[in-house]
Amino acid sequence: MNHKIAPSLLSTDFLNLQQDIDMLNASDADWLHCDVMDGVFVPNISFGFPVLEQIKKVAQKPLDVHLMIVNPDKFIQQVKDAGGYMMTVHYEACTHLHRTVGAIHEAGMKAGVSLNPHTPVELLTDIIEDLDLVLIMSVNPGFGGQKFIPNSINKVARTRKMIDERNLHTLIEVDGGVNLDTGKQLLNAGADVLVAGSFVFSSTNPTETISSLKNL
Ligand code: DX5
Ligand code: ZN
Repeated sequence: MNHKIAPSLLSTDFLNLQQDIDMLNASDADWLHCDVMDGVFVPNISFGFPVLEQIKKVAQKPLDVHLMIVNPDKFIQQVKDAGGYMMTVHYEACTHLHRTVGAIHEAGMKAGVSLNPHTPVELLTDIIEDLDLVLIMSVNPGFGGQKFIPNSINKVARTRKMIDERNLHTLIEVDGGVNLDTGKQLLNAGADVLVAGSFVFSSTNPTETISSLKNL
């Protein structure tokens, strides 16, 4: 039970966000996963810094900020100011990824890199030692409630191998279509952090659902 659970706020009731955050504060959730989308990198727009600033005021758990945007370098300080603990950028959105990761660290945050479903984990071979987290997308980013892509399990296993062979402490997070069944398989393959949106917030008792994910 060493793994972390990061419920995704994308599936919360935005009209009652504080209520949902209070629930998460009192739950077994470890981090609050915040999905920022720009309508360019992904075909959807979610929420941005004004909302993150409000979340920060009531959240009692670290904010795990997943940026599905082009040019994330432009917003590093804003993510930090909005309470970001982990700042995760997409591999596919960063031409100078090494520089981006360095700047995230310099701003005082943990740095994560996310991979779209078609992006091989082996492309991280020359940057993984600098990363605090690898986020493996198990759906095409942009929307909650999509179907889990089974090859993600294989990607987690390959990332686990890469990390263990080098004795690193980089965490493996998985995002998209996580439920008790896929969550179990991902943990068996070596995942450290499970993001779950619709599975948690469409359940009748989100607090219990979080606990069952935590107890997998
Ligand atoms: C999708 C987001 C996810 C999303 C997951 O692009 O990155 O964090 O909220 O939602 P579920 O768990 O419903 O697949
Ligand atoms: Zn996400």
